[in-house]
Amino acid sequence: MSKPKVTIVGSLNMDLVVTAERHPKIGETLTGEKFTTLCGGKGANQAVAAARLGCDVTFIGRVGNDAFGTEMIESLKSEGVNVDHIEVLDEVESGIAMITVNPLDNTIIVVPGANAHVTKDVIDKHREALLESDVVVTQLEIPMETVDYVAEVCGDNNIELVVNPAPAQKLTDNIINNSTYITPNQIELTQLAEAHPELLKDHIDKFVVTSGSKGCYYTVDAYRVDVPTMKAEVVDTTGAGDCFNGAFVSYIAQGRSLEESCHFANAAASLSVEKFGAQNAMPTTEQVLERMNR
Ligand code: RIB
Repeated sequence: MSKPKVTIVGSLNMDLVVTAERHPKIGETLTGEKFTTLCGGKGANQAVAAARLGCDVTFIGRVGNDAFGTEMIESLKSEGVNVDHIEVLDEVESGIAMITVNPLDNTIIVVPGANAHVTKDVIDKHREALLESDVVVTQLEIPMETVDYVAEVCGDNNIELVVNPAPAQKLTDNIINNSTYITPNQIELTQLAEAHPELLKDHIDKFVVTSGSKGCYYTVDAYRVDVPTMKAEVVDTTGAGDCFNGAFVSYIAQGRSLEESCHFANAAASLSVEKFGAQNAMPTTEQVLERMNR
């Protein structure tokens, strides 16, 4: 059986991760425990998740002409992701994320770098890859104008589109109308509802909302369907949402139902929080199915 084709238009960041017992207070200097650099970025994390879960994944994005850029491309390549559509720019640096992980949660500051240069002309140059996809996935770590354009191309060509609205920003009509699913977490959903008072009333059936240890939910005919998740021994929640999205898309791209896709994605995300790092922690299909059968 041929693998479903998933194209991710998104961000690549080098994650500069510090672990500490707690977050510092404003003005406080705190001694941390460990510092690590790990390949990340919501787009790249979702690409690794979908690739490990059996999809033929193509990535469209940009990095800087620097050591981080080279490492991020090589890392995606080693996961079997098609990196032919990642462009290397001389004039900007690769995106980075400063992440502080403590036993309960994490904080992230992203400096977009080359991700801010994923412009509409990049989509035009790599349009063929989009048109060959079963499902296209994007997030909001690249310019909104580009996400809007991706949505337009998908809409015009009847290609399924999953938009992970992270970090939350006001969406355009093209994005709302042309996306098959919109996958915020609970906080992002609140932010979106504030930005678009009518959004949840008019388009609620497109929303799959993740709510951490509670799992996720969606709405059918005005009824909320809760899909609970499994218990996990939490080590690091960084990238759990990305794992959910990559896994969700991998099942949707195989033609599975919304309910099946949510169960599968919950199980995958519950595994991802049990390991340190984002891409590092993405599970394989066998591991997810084993957890679901437990
Ligand atoms: O969702 C986690 C990701 O958010 C990190 O890998 C970091 O790069 C930021 O993009």
